[in-house]
Amino acid sequence: MKLADNKATLSFSNGSPKIELPVYSGSVGPDVIDIRKLYAQTGMFTYDPGFMSTAACQSTITYIDGDKGELLYRGYPIEQIATNCDFLETCHLLLYGNLPDVAAKAKFTKTVTNHTMVNEQMQFFLRGFRRDAHPMAIMTGLVGALSAFYHDSTDINNPEHREISAIRLIAKMPTLVAMAYKYSVGQPFMYPKNNLGYAGNFLHMMFATPCEQYTVNPVIERALDRIFILHADHEQNASTSTVRLCGSSGTNPFAAIAAGVACLWGPAHGGANEAALNMLEDIQKMGGVSKVGEFISQVKDKNSGIKLMGFGHRVYKNYDPRAKLMQETCREVLSSLGLENDPLFKLAMALEKIALEDDYFVQRKLYPNVDFYSGIVQRAIGIPTSLFTAVFALARTVGWIAQLNEMIGDPEYKIGRPRQLFTGSEQRQVVPIGQR
Ligand code: CMC
Repeated sequence: MKLADNKATLSFSNGSPKIELPVYSGSVGPDVIDIRKLYAQTGMFTYDPGFMSTAACQSTITYIDGDKGELLYRGYPIEQIATNCDFLETCHLLLYGNLPDVAAKAKFTKTVTNHTMVNEQMQFFLRGFRRDAHPMAIMTGLVGALSAFYHDSTDINNPEHREISAIRLIAKMPTLVAMAYKYSVGQPFMYPKNNLGYAGNFLHMMFATPCEQYTVNPVIERALDRIFILHADHEQNASTSTVRLCGSSGTNPFAAIAAGVACLWGPAHGGANEAALNMLEDIQKMGGVSKVGEFISQVKDKNSGIKLMGFGHRVYKNYDPRAKLMQETCREVLSSLGLENDPLFKLAMALEKIALEDDYFVQRKLYPNVDFYSGIVQRAIGIPTSLFTAVFALARTVGWIAQLNEMIGDPEYKIGRPRQLFTGSEQRQVVPIGQR
């Protein structure tokens, strides 16, 4: 970051002396006012619940222009990445800052592939869960438990440990998600097959059984790979900020990523793909496309507490570019599976059309986000609804770990420690229990 030409001046109506605050520019995007010395100079904090106007770090990984509906990974538009690269190339880009050439890709793929198995003991840990446990409950536990199995990569201050834990996490997430699924349906776990690609291997671990030959469908494999690419990173969203805050204490990378998994689970974040599909299924049960108008009226009624899941975004005030790509993938997958007339896809299109024309959504700049169509694709692939967010977690792991490693390598990084505006009781005295 570099100092901008202008400075910010903060003045007070009570006559306190005004202060000047430095302003920094990034390479693109809004400038930032540096308030780090504000408390020392004025005794005041800033107040910004939900980080509406706060840049919590500097980063070189992902950039979103919310007004334009633009998403860049290390400078490359997501549309170009999604059409020209595969997920492991994207991982390389996010982790190391450059797209690999043929040799670097082969080396990286080999390294990741060498780490796809998990310690056999993980199976016994998994078996402690109820069969009907939500996959995200299981994933939070399993990812956290990795730190109990890989003691040689838990020192976040050691660059080699950071590197090996990054590779392990990227390599093992598909194995863990597939194990969580197999456990829920009572089928034997399938070991990874390292002659398959990253997405193909995940499909194999999910849908193969020891008694039959399983062949990966290339259209589905490519669609899943695209889902992974589109979810790989998204700058300082809630789960990434959670990973950074958690990691800022110096905890081990597996624990920090487990915190990210837990945060992602919420329906306002990664849980929206599951919630969006459940919403479509509910509308379908009520009568489908003919009920869209009625449903939209409920969404617009503030007292209903109903949201159009898969719509709206804190940063995008335009069409989420990932949603466009996901819609394209949705069409491809449905037509390759002969499901062109899928009622949920038709319903989603009808909902989108009405919402995009409705004043409520237009005024608030609410557009479909990535989760609006990703559930339909996953469902067509055969992934159960409750596993959608775990697939998101699998894909976002590379973003989390790249952001975590960037933070640890940043000389300006400090433990994250927000302050507060205290509005509770002032000091008071404890009254003995009999006199309260
Ligand atoms: N349906 C109906 N109204 C909405 C929606 C929605 N999906 N999203 C926002 N609004 C309204 C909201 O009620 C508010 O209206 P008003 O100004 O009258 O009070 C206005 O739009 C601004 O919304 P906000 O809640 O202040 O915006 P936010 O930036 O705090 O929230 C959001 C962003 C993504 C949490 C929210 O849009 C939402 O809950 N969407 C549905 C859940 C969803 O799809 N989440 C996935 C996000 S993308 C993937 C990811 O991050 O994991």
